[in-house]
Amino acid sequence: MHIFSVKIHKILFTFYILSVIILYYKKGLVIFLRLDRFLSNMGKATRSESSRLVRMGKVIVNGVPAKKSDMQINPDTDEVVLNGAPVTYKQFTYIMLNKPEGYVSATDDPQEKTVLDLVDPEDRRKGLFPCGRLDKNTLGLVILTNDGEGAHRCLSPKHHVSKVYRFETLLPISQADKAALEKGVDIGGYTTRPCSVALTGERTGKITLTEGKYHQIKRMLEAVNNKITYLERISFGTVELDPSLERGEWRYLTKEEEKIFLKGE
Ligand code: URA
Repeated sequence: MHIFSVKIHKILFTFYILSVIILYYKKGLVIFLRLDRFLSNMGKATRSESSRLVRMGKVIVNGVPAKKSDMQINPDTDEVVLNGAPVTYKQFTYIMLNKPEGYVSATDDPQEKTVLDLVDPEDRRKGLFPCGRLDKNTLGLVILTNDGEGAHRCLSPKHHVSKVYRFETLLPISQADKAALEKGVDIGGYTTRPCSVALTGERTGKITLTEGKYHQIKRMLEAVNNKITYLERISFGTVELDPSLERGEWRYLTKEEEKIFLKGE
């Protein structure tokens, strides 16, 4: 009797382990998403808007009006229609963020707040990361994506994608300094590529770089015995920071912006 019960326990335990393994693999193969998260990830509605739209009967899943915004859907196979228009699942997401001071350009950090902390958890898709880095105290345009290949193309030094920064310095910038910066300066064993500097005041201007070395602009200004006191990125390739975004706010790139971002221009 005792041996029999031990055997039963062993069989049940094996069953349990097998079902856990099967479930794990099934989950790995099929990604289920909450309907409201799906709509928000596709940039169609925020989660609270999604609930409202569901209540209004505006969201149809596989031909049937959705009853609850937290229902699970399979974005690969389920058909979702919002306000009469099909919503197709996009594998990749592209976000424009207006970075405030005090956030590091990383996906996680044991001590610091990261740019990902600014994105609502439900919109933080798996694999999302900042495309390139801004220093902790640099402000402005950061593009977040889960498209590693697309980001790589834009960041690759081969593509020379230009980035424009608005800056302010401690001391006035002379015409000689401007010419030196444009020609290329030694930032410690490396001479920067030619760039363009447009002065808007004695200590302010815009600088356009086609490369991105660590602390590059700060080091460039140090090379001409000056110091950066304000730095903000306002464009990345042909994607410009949306002036309607407050610091810390973000939005999805438009289709047009996605296209130009991916071309790496
Ligand atoms: N150059 C810098 O020095 N810092 C940045 O964040 C970006 C460019």
